Amino acid sequence: MAQEDVFKKIVSHCKEYGFVFPSSEIYDGLAAVYDYGQNGVELKNNIKEYWWKSMVLLHENIVGIDSAIFMHPTIWKASGHVDAFNDPLIDNRDSKKRYRADVLIEDQIAKYDEKIEKEIAKARKRFGDSFDEAQFRATNGRVLEHQQKRDALHERYTEAMQGPDLAELKQIIEDEGIVDPISGTKNWTDVRQFNLMFSTEMGSVADGTNKIYLRPETAQGIFVNYLNVQKTGRMKIPFGIAQIGKAFRNEIVARQFIFRMREFEQMEMQFFVQPGTEIEYFKKWKELRMKWHQALGFGAENYRFHDHEKLAHYANAATDIEFKMPFGFKEVEGVHSRTNFDLSQHEKFSGRSIKYFDPQTKESYTPYVIETSIGVDRMFLSVMCHSYREEQLENGETRVVLLLPPALAPTKLAVLPLVKKDGLPEKAREIVNDLKFHFNTHYDEKDTIGKRYRRQDAIGTPYCVTVDYDTLKDNTVTLRFRDTMEQERVSIDQLRDIIEDKVSITSLLKKLQ
Ligand code: GAP
Repeated sequence: MAQEDVFKKIVSHCKEYGFVFPSSEIYDGLAAVYDYGQNGVELKNNIKEYWWKSMVLLHENIVGIDSAIFMHPTIWKASGHVDAFNDPLIDNRDSKKRYRADVLIEDQIAKYDEKIEKEIAKARKRFGDSFDEAQFRATNGRVLEHQQKRDALHERYTEAMQGPDLAELKQIIEDEGIVDPISGTKNWTDVRQFNLMFSTEMGSVADGTNKIYLRPETAQGIFVNYLNVQKTGRMKIPFGIAQIGKAFRNEIVARQFIFRMREFEQMEMQFFVQPGTEIEYFKKWKELRMKWHQALGFGAENYRFHDHEKLAHYANAATDIEFKMPFGFKEVEGVHSRTNFDLSQHEKFSGRSIKYFDPQTKESYTPYVIETSIGVDRMFLSVMCHSYREEQLENGETRVVLLLPPALAPTKLAVLPLVKKDGLPEKAREIVNDLKFHFNTHYDEKDTIGKRYRRQDAIGTPYCVTVDYDTLKDNTVTLRFRDTMEQERVSIDQLRDIIEDKVSITSLLKKLQ
């Protein structure tokens, strides 16, 4: 199945099984805004718990905060967001659609990559086992031609994005003959800058004097509280502050479902270090964050670092952790060495000293910061994309199953009475009432056992137990394992021991030690 079709199936699966709904759907939705349903919210909470505990539970020197979404507007002036948090946009006069100029060009670069991959796939088919990809890439005329065009475009584009040079971005779009995917025309406007922050007014005055912004990142709430936390928590450098919260960006092009949203959630941690030690900590956090991702068991080959060649003016190192989605390797998390830019700016704009006094060296300095920043929704999407499977069974049926890591699954155990009579429902409820205090346990009696198993597979429930007539006699149940569909007869008293450890967030956290 084409990856595009797989992605479409994942999107509709998310809706059909109560994971993600388009926001305001009965009013035809609101672009790039989504709601999480009954299963989605559980999965999302588990992702957040895994991240939160991996930060504040496993590190003595990391604490959490929960800062307000509304902040003093000068914060966004100081951080550079008012002046520079822009995307270059371009309109097509025929379709009246708006695009990000940089995305149009990146898509064009991806087209050259696709052409190269197609040539390679064709050759691999032709030559079979004797195919030498490296040699083919180095010698095949068509591949070399595509590669040369791709590299030249990439270089020109990277150069144009410094600044950025808006006229040059437009020129690239024209020179490459990029057409609007809807109208098919090249009738483009000039490229303009578009600020991504949402604004509103605070209080009763709507004349612009009380303009405030919805935060486009949670990080600034950490920066402006760093000294409060350091002093009240008697924190010594190096130390970190973690936060999970909503962020808002008026994205010009919102695509790929929950990958790029206008309202989303971030999990950010700022780690404050002594100047001069930041690169050492940057490397450490790169490694720790990759380990966090890989502990989910999705396979190391599905992740890669994308180290930034051109850095933002305030950063001295930056990398993205990318995950292989059905639409290619995409950024899920950023690890950035942000120097002392943010803290220095807040010192300058607030007029207050927020320097750290080092009790050992008796020196005061503005700490440097390593930031780890991951989107909850992108993480959710990567988990869904990796877990969704359509399996052909021996009896010819197809089973749709979410192979979620058990610790992230919304429901851990489903308890199913074989029939709705003869005391079986009561016995099943007894099991639920006992185990629900230890992990998320659901009762389900509607439809045949087969259909109920399929429903639980589709939401990723790792364990089901069936209560039957023998249960009433010998207190045993049939325990069914989602991944293998194997079944085993076990005593009800054993259930907690068998299941609890495997579905706990602790099981994931232990892999990080
Ligand atoms: N404080 C740094 C910061 O915000 P970023 O690279 O702009 O850095 C960090 O964002 C992460 O937030 C991204 O890696 C991504 O996971 C998530 N993110 C950013 N914009 C998003 C959007 N429009 N929709 C969903 N997630 C987004």
